[in-house]
Amino acid sequence: MPDTITITDDRTGKQVTVPITGGVFPASAVRELDPSLYIYDPAYMQTAACKSSITYLDGDAGILRYRGYPIEQLAEHSSYLEVAYLLLNGELPSPTQLAQWNDDVIHHTFIHENMRKRFVDGFHYDAHPMGMLVSAVAALGTFYNDAKHIEDKASRDKQILRLIAKMPTLAAMAYRFSVGLPFVYPNNELSFPANFLNMMWKIGDYEIDPRLERAMDVLFILHADHEQNCGTTAMRVVGSSQADPYSSCAAAASALYGPLHGGANEGVVRMLTDIGSIENVPAFIEEVKSGKGGRLMGFGHRVYKNYDPRATIVKKTAYEVFEVTGTNPLLDIALKLEEVALSDEYFTSRKLYPNVDFYSGLIYQAMGFPVSMFTVLFAIPRSVGWLSHWQELLGDKEQKISRPRQWYTGPESRDYVPLGSR
Ligand code: CMC
Repeated sequence: MPDTITITDDRTGKQVTVPITGGVFPASAVRELDPSLYIYDPAYMQTAACKSSITYLDGDAGILRYRGYPIEQLAEHSSYLEVAYLLLNGELPSPTQLAQWNDDVIHHTFIHENMRKRFVDGFHYDAHPMGMLVSAVAALGTFYNDAKHIEDKASRDKQILRLIAKMPTLAAMAYRFSVGLPFVYPNNELSFPANFLNMMWKIGDYEIDPRLERAMDVLFILHADHEQNCGTTAMRVVGSSQADPYSSCAAAASALYGPLHGGANEGVVRMLTDIGSIENVPAFIEEVKSGKGGRLMGFGHRVYKNYDPRATIVKKTAYEVFEVTGTNPLLDIALKLEEVALSDEYFTSRKLYPNVDFYSGLIYQAMGFPVSMFTVLFAIPRSVGWLSHWQELLGDKEQKISRPRQWYTGPESRDYVPLGSR
């Protein structure tokens, strides 16, 4: 049997046969059948909007690979900056290439003084750090007019470096402003994760425990990309209008800010805190099932219908972090929730398993990050995923400005009635 699909228009009897490749067939078949015919696909559940060679996801088998490399191997052996290189370039770097890349990133960690002194000071004292980060990423673009030259590879590469390098600086700046502490300049002697931790908490001779530094790096690796999620789709949609990468990244970060996306880890810790003790877990689960208690945050995924492979690594990392920080008291509630949910027909029949956010918040909290910083911690490494997709999009000859159609359900044409006659 050939891998083809034949679509018949029952109104006219016209048939179009197109190939199925990699489980996908071209929507041009519908256009060929009748150019005025459209596919209704809310939330793009059944739509492959692009070709991509960056990240592979098999939601049923619980597989995640960056450029073909299993996430488990990268989390075990690699570093975030090496993974960033891999995502952007398609291949692992040689030792020389990695040293050069690390050096290049390190040299772009500083931000313009106006960002620090004038821009940040304009925020309200209780501004959410993620809201500040979204605005800061957009504002950063105004400092680099060359960012508009998206057709120029050298300029694109420069902006990519700048964004990856400055995300931790902006993130730490947003945090320190939100707690009334002075800005800490980057220390380029430190590794990427250690530099970030130092900018967050530097007090006197602050020393970073290497186990926490490694945990931070692993979390950065796990969050670096996840194919066409909501934020990455926002990046591609805005990027398709040829906006500069800072504006596109700000759009992607805005999508990430939402509680159903990157805001979920914040939701998990708030949920666990509200549950309060393991005795309350069964009642909470009943509330979720009845639809009265909201969703079980950190559970379920559009693509994974199995255990999210990142959740397994995050859970293991959590125990490593707790060896340094002491256990997060919310851990017992989380474990009980997982146990109860995974033996409950409501969750198993809907294939709802813990996702990456279920345990990451517990680690962040144990490491001393306030809940409002959790999505910011997601955005730092995800920036490389956004930029990899942006780069891929710009090089894809089949792409144009994103412009879906709609299924119009409003009134037919009618005449305006003057105010006095109504
Ligand atoms: N708790 C309880 N019920 C759920 C949950 C949940 N966390 N997630 C899905 N369901 C139910 C949902 O009510 C629906 O039931 P029914 O068929 O009876 O109406 C069914 O499962 C299918 O849900 P859906 O909303 O159609 O699934 P979706 O693919 O649109 O949503 C999701 C995916 C991640 C938004 C959703 O599972 C969710 O809201 N989870 C909680 C928030 C969360 O943890 N988000 C982080 C996602 S991973 C990181 C990231 O990508 O940002």
